[in-house]
Amino acid sequence: MALNINEIIEDSFQLIGGNFATAGEASTQLKMKLTELGVDETIIRRAAIATFEAEMNVIIYAAAARLHYVITPRNITIRIEDMGPGIEDIQLAMQEGYSTAPDWVREMGWGAGMGLPNMKKNSDEFRIDSVVGEGTTVEMVINFP
Ligand SMILES: Nc1ncnc2c1ncn2[C@@H]1O[C@H](COP(=O)(O)OP(=O)(O)OP(=O)(O)O)[C@@H](O)[C@H]1O
Ligand SMILES: [Mg+2]
Repeated sequence: MALNINEIIEDSFQLIGGNFATAGEASTQLKMKLTELGVDETIIRRAAIATFEAEMNVIIYAAAARLHYVITPRNITIRIEDMGPGIEDIQLAMQEGYSTAPDWVREMGWGAGMGLPNMKKNSDEFRIDSVVGEGTTVEMVINFP
């Protein structure tokens, strides 16, 4: 199917910390939108993985966040701006296997320390910015082939 994007398409979602029941809502919506637009399956998978990992981090670590995506004929940009504790050492947090997830989160199967590295791996551009005591902003761009 040909790519069917003639205009800028955007949407945003409110994410609430601790709300595991809503995990995956934003990534599922985005996936549906990209499918409807005829975007390449590989791109859809990358966007869905990156968005889902970002949602999980908000649910586990932050109080709340806004997830905003923009789709243009060239790429998709996903931005997640949270209110939360922030990240003291971003370089450390970006390392594969680094996690501060508490035991109860690990018991649910999270906390492998792979979320941020996977977000970066699945993005063409990845930016993370954090202020301790205020929150964290992640911006990811995935280019269309
Ligand atoms: N939005 C955030 N706010 C505060 N700290 C965060 C946030 N996102 C990540 N972190 C910190 O960075 C660490 C690494 O995050 P990452 O997503 O890579 O792994 P994880 O969430 O611990 O495990 P996984 O994603 O594999 O389930 C987290 O354990 C946490 O300490
Ligand atoms: Mg994570």
